[in-house]
Amino acid sequence: MTNTYDFGLVGLGVMGRNFILNVADNDFTAYGNDLDEEKVKALIEEGGNPKKVNATTDAETFVKNLSLPRKIMLLVPAGKIVDAVIENLLPLLDEGDIIIDGGNSFFTDTDRREAYLSGKGVNFFGAGVSGGAKGARLGPSIMPGGNREAYQHVKPIFEAVSAKYKGEPCVAYLGPKSAGNYVKMVHNGIEYGLMQLTSEIYDVLKKGGDFSNDELHATYAKWNEGRLQSFLVEITSEIFEQEDNLGEGRLVDKILDKAKQKGTGKWTSQNAMDLGIPVPSIDIAVSMRELSALKEERIKADELYDRPTVVKMDKAKLEKLAENALYFSFIITYTQGLHQLADASKEYGYDLDISEIAKIWRAGCIIRAGLLADITDAFKKNSNLPNLLLSPTFVNKVQETVDAARVLVSYGATNGIPLPGLSNSLTYFDAYTSSRLPLNVIQAQRDYFGSHTYERLDREGIFHTEWEE
Ligand code: 6PG
Repeated sequence: MTNTYDFGLVGLGVMGRNFILNVADNDFTAYGNDLDEEKVKALIEEGGNPKKVNATTDAETFVKNLSLPRKIMLLVPAGKIVDAVIENLLPLLDEGDIIIDGGNSFFTDTDRREAYLSGKGVNFFGAGVSGGAKGARLGPSIMPGGNREAYQHVKPIFEAVSAKYKGEPCVAYLGPKSAGNYVKMVHNGIEYGLMQLTSEIYDVLKKGGDFSNDELHATYAKWNEGRLQSFLVEITSEIFEQEDNLGEGRLVDKILDKAKQKGTGKWTSQNAMDLGIPVPSIDIAVSMRELSALKEERIKADELYDRPTVVKMDKAKLEKLAENALYFSFIITYTQGLHQLADASKEYGYDLDISEIAKIWRAGCIIRAGLLADITDAFKKNSNLPNLLLSPTFVNKVQETVDAARVLVSYGATNGIPLPGLSNSLTYFDAYTSSRLPLNVIQAQRDYFGSHTYERLDREGIFHTEWEE
């Protein structure tokens, strides 16, 4: 029998295998495709019933078995492989079929592919999938973008497999073309920011308050029960508990302090620069991964310079400051990412609904957090909110916590404990909430050396001064 399976998936690696099993668990039949015979066999075995989940190495058999319009998801590494898989499938497809790229593809690649495939009568979706392997298996957050009508064919499957927040699916049609990949890119930028913040708060607790791993575990676990409730705080608490399976003590103390990256955080920063939207909490998170990679140079530099002896702080006091400061800087990081999304929506014609995005981030994805329920509400109340800091819902939350961020940033600076994510968040806040910044001097300098002109506070028009006369 042909054309019977509801859903096709190319790429049976960890994410693909888990996603397709999730589809089958939700009463859809699914067919997998991978060049690797072992992966195909493993999926058929794990699926347990080939009538529900089947797989093949042969593209033709794969395509023939899918019901029309075909819904084929690609979970393959971003880049040239996506194009190669598309070229392989294209001659076998019918008009109206749907290809969904579930990887972290760069959004302009998605635009290019969408234009190319729509010329051939095939619908192309860029759908960010967040939540790692466990999310893919049990319910990820899914961020699809593409043709709105074609999405109706995919919708029932995505809504069934996605994570649920109080019964609501963590997936929504986000917009045309690359809207889905763009939103996932910014999700990852925010992810970088939050990860940097949770790591530097660990540093200050450890260096400034002598917190042991057990105390760090308990502290993060406690925070996860309160307003900082989030996937990243939760897993960080568990990380401090993990014993080293290759030696004595806790694993976290043996892990090399060089963070790798696949590029999505950097893309967020680069694109924010192109748009002219400041996202310094994300920028610094990317820079810190780069700086961490310079381990050998850091070791040499450490020997060259003295650093202050850390004046220890009372544990309870430090813990309270850290909780407030982390909450403050989490808000600021979401603020910046969402500001970027609001601007990109205009620039690229995505027509994004920010409250809908915050809503589908409430469960399943890496940046899921209790805070996102408040963020959803803030944008529901005012869908044109340019910046979360302008939301009346957030004024108190920020006002109550910013002073802790000030104390901690100055404590870090005095004691030589780098808190770059926190201080960038604080600086962003101080600058964004300043009605007067010193950039008048920059305008004067530009006009002085380059006749670049300036505007005035007290009258309309463009002015130039011969400064040296
Ligand atoms: C997710 C993650 C995921 C990402 C990893 C690794 O939402 O599930 O964002 O898509 O690939 O977090 O990213 P880096 O290797 O760049 O840290």
